[in-house]
Amino acid sequence: MDYQFILVSKDPAGFAVVQLNRPEVLNAINIKLMEELVAALEALDSDQDIRCIVITGNEKAFAAGADIKEMSDASAVEMLQRDQFARWDRIRKVKKPIVAAVSGFALGGGCELMMTCDIVIASETARIGQPEINIGVMPGAGGTQRLTRAVGKVKAMEMVLTGTMITAQEALQWGLVNKVMPVEFYLEEAKALAKNIAQKPPLAVRLAKESVLKAFDTTIEGGLEFERKNFYLLFASEDQKEGMKAFTEKRNAQWKGK
Ligand code: HXC
Repeated sequence: MDYQFILVSKDPAGFAVVQLNRPEVLNAINIKLMEELVAALEALDSDQDIRCIVITGNEKAFAAGADIKEMSDASAVEMLQRDQFARWDRIRKVKKPIVAAVSGFALGGGCELMMTCDIVIASETARIGQPEINIGVMPGAGGTQRLTRAVGKVKAMEMVLTGTMITAQEALQWGLVNKVMPVEFYLEEAKALAKNIAQKPPLAVRLAKESVLKAFDTTIEGGLEFERKNFYLLFASEDQKEGMKAFTEKRNAQWKGK
């Protein structure tokens, strides 16, 4: 499929890279870009050859937020009718792990997109923030919820109420990103991580991702129950038998995804 605002490439090692590609506006996320991103992610989610997805931008910007020019004159009713957050919800439903490779600006919707991903590798140049307050609005794609869960109330309040950007190192200390790399290596590191995950048994990866995400919207009791059921379910898979047999036979397991 041909896309206007994203580039998609598949690696034979079992992962795909989706690059946001509106460099002239620092990858500002307009409706078309988001439509394309969701379409690409859903296609990769049902692609048997792909087991992990990397989302990236370019060195200067992961994404500087939603496209301000596209929404500046919209009424509340128009915004509601655009129903753009329905697309964001579909990203949350992608079953395969998503690694964000973030360099430069990750602001507003860009920060929210980053937080929708499962693992984040940042370059030393990353600048992360929720600056919506400076243009008369507030985060709308999960920023107040995901940021607060990731960094805690007081830090989320500071970021959302002042719009100040934080550095990659601060994001690392605050638990918002997994790793900070020199700018030459952040994308390679994200790809290496995706390759590593792509080599794991796919059913276990899928249920493990689902179970970790469950922790965000359930009680500990409900979450433990969910985890346990998924754990038991994996004993119905050929990969569980193969994985444990390979361990006792001291050889590498051959995963079938069954
Ligand atoms: C539209 C944007 C944009 C955006 C940058 N551009 N961010 N266009 N929407 N979010 C455009 C600029 O207009 C400019 O185009 C070009 O990209 C380069 O940007 P500059 O401002 O000239 O670059 P620089 O001086 O380096 O400043 C970088 C920046 C600044 C600090 C990132 O661009 C900035 O503050 N951008 C807005 C960040 C923001 O407020 N994001 C939140 C958006 S609201 P021209 O044509 O002038 O050269 C949001 C809500 C999410 O995300 C809700 C969910 C959908």
